[in-house]
Amino acid sequence: MRIAALTAALLLQAATLGGAATPGRGDDDDAASAQQRPLVGPSREPQQRRRQPNVVFILTDDQDVHLSSLDYMPLVKKHLLEKGTNFMKHYATTAVCCPSRVTLWTGKFAHNTNVTDVSPPYGGYPKFVSEGFNDNYFPVWLQEAGYNTYYTGKLFNVHTVENYNSPPPGGFTGSDFLLDPHTYDYLNSTFQRNGQEPRSYEGHYSTDVLAEKAYGLLDEAVDAGKPFFLVAAPIAPHANVVMNGPGHGIHSVYFTEPVPAERHKHLFKDEKVPRTANFNPEEPSGANWVRELPQQNSTNVEYNDHFYRQRLRALQAVDELVEGLVERLERHGLLEDTYVVYSSDNGFHIGQHRLQPGKSCGYEEDVNVPLIVRGPGVAAGYAADGVVTTHADLAPTFFDLLGIPPRADFDGDAIPVTRERIEEVRDKGGRREHAGIEYWGFAMGEGIYNRNPLEHNTYKAIRLSGPGYNLYYSVWCNNEHELYDMETDPGQLHNLLSSSASSSPPPLLAAGHPAHKVAARLDALLLVLKTCAAGTCRDPWRQMHPDGSVRSLADALAPRYDAYYDYDYDEEGGAGGAPRVEYRYCANGFLEDAEGPTWQADGRPFGWGEYGYGELRRREDGTRWEDWV
Ligand SMILES: *[C@@H]1O[C@H](CO)[C@@H](O)[C@H](O)[C@H]1NC(C)=O
Ligand SMILES: *[C@@H]1O[C@H](CO)[C@@H](O)[C@H](O)[C@H]1NC(C)=O
Ligand SMILES: *[C@@H]1O[C@H](CO)[C@@H](O)[C@H](O)[C@H]1NC(C)=O
Repeated sequence: MRIAALTAALLLQAATLGGAATPGRGDDDDAASAQQRPLVGPSREPQQRRRQPNVVFILTDDQDVHLSSLDYMPLVKKHLLEKGTNFMKHYATTAVCCPSRVTLWTGKFAHNTNVTDVSPPYGGYPKFVSEGFNDNYFPVWLQEAGYNTYYTGKLFNVHTVENYNSPPPGGFTGSDFLLDPHTYDYLNSTFQRNGQEPRSYEGHYSTDVLAEKAYGLLDEAVDAGKPFFLVAAPIAPHANVVMNGPGHGIHSVYFTEPVPAERHKHLFKDEKVPRTANFNPEEPSGANWVRELPQQNSTNVEYNDHFYRQRLRALQAVDELVEGLVERLERHGLLEDTYVVYSSDNGFHIGQHRLQPGKSCGYEEDVNVPLIVRGPGVAAGYAADGVVTTHADLAPTFFDLLGIPPRADFDGDAIPVTRERIEEVRDKGGRREHAGIEYWGFAMGEGIYNRNPLEHNTYKAIRLSGPGYNLYYSVWCNNEHELYDMETDPGQLHNLLSSSASSSPPPLLAAGHPAHKVAARLDALLLVLKTCAAGTCRDPWRQMHPDGSVRSLADALAPRYDAYYDYDYDEEGGAGGAPRVEYRYCANGFLEDAEGPTWQADGRPFGWGEYGYGELRRREDGTRWEDWV
């Protein structure tokens, strides 16, 4: 009944807007709408369509890889994992919604967008607009290349019922956005279609409303007869958030566990957060504020298990949405010409390192996110473990898939999607082996316990994986360092650089090299990455080795470079005094004077020194770092 009423409401809305009728979810509704409007047929020039592929992109919110959420999505398994390629080493470069999404839709790291937070002054939709991206980002570029673009769901944070039209997000042929303050209110969402007034869906389940809208936009896209890029961005499995809720004050934000659809409430009664070694460990772990966290008591752990089950349940409606989209593509005869891509803006932790439910850390749970691709030429049922990819690579990848020449200012690289190319890159090198990770600001718990903001959660990190090594290196804004051997310590419990780590004999990693020698290389790489742009992000080793002799950590570990990297690394900066990544203080945004030494892009053989941003060479307009070509 509820679905039928909702469908009627949506049909009414579509009719008043003069748009295509929205088919319902039920078989009866589908049959009815199929009778009214024939699906794509010979009259729509299928031959011509077939040459240019389409993309349908499902972007979830806060979905993990390491809490096994994909194991509970049978339809994603059936339609995407079994029919496509799963990129196992895909990373969010900034583990929180808005910065991550801006990176995804610009192909630039957050240090090049300066959208580093979810809300002003350092982030949110207003910051995206004021940085000049609203007429210079992915959907705009795609329209310029002849594509129609459609989006439903959450675009950015602080895209609100007040600012939705000032200006409207650029670049969309058709849109139906979730808006704050009701974005994360699973049972009282507000959507806003094209230029229209926002509309409340009180009492309807957010993901189901979104699914109807996604199907309607897909039909519009097919009717328009042009190649299209369609995004469905549901909020699941993000926490439920009530802003300005009753009894919580005017500006209060109230987090609770995610809310499933009524029909999924009964599922997974026995499931619990996987009890991996880093789950609520006996000993503290991590660095900085993480190492100060108390172990959680059983009441807290039980609540967190409930939070976990609510996430799995909330994902069921997303699972159905994926099937709904795939089935519609098939009925339109477009499934073989369409890339269906599935990812999430950032990952999530529950209890690992004693953390309350949340994200924004650099640990594997928060940065490793799903990326599944099915489509023309993409291998079915393949788990690609050999390439490290990031959200900065997605815009370049979509360009590549759609045959659009890459932009020179992309920080990322197109991801190889065919099995042949993936294995060639894995076996012969030729692609960077790291993900640059960066964060500014605070972290917060999203459950009901200890959700106070935790300050000083500013850090830079590298996740690097290549033949013979699998590593995570970080520098926090209090200048603590971490290095984990992800092969022997996937839970990141034994920091090889902690002052308490016993180091006799020193731990060996990366093909038998001591941890400190490896750390010196990674630090130099991080120094380049933290202000890299375009070419310097895609091939950072070349900054230190302009002759191209070093393309990987393995190359850089050759003994002849020991002097260059000053391998007597220590936390004080090394015997040779080579500048290290170092913060002057903990800032909540990307503030020049907090950032410490930076790489000098001046081609000097040992080109680093203690200089502030002011001395970096800039383009003539003074806005961006000079690119290295
Ligand atoms: C649902 O949202 C609307 C605004 O879109 C608001 O007027 C209404 O009070 C909300 N309902 C509840 C139960 O919070
Ligand atoms: C368990 O921990 C939570 C969060 O710190 C606290 O609020 C609660 O009082 C504790 N419960 C017991 C029984 O100790
Ligand atoms: C980033 O934006 C913030 C807020 O507007 C500003 O204070 C800061 O100077 C900017 N950072 C850089 C490096 O331009």
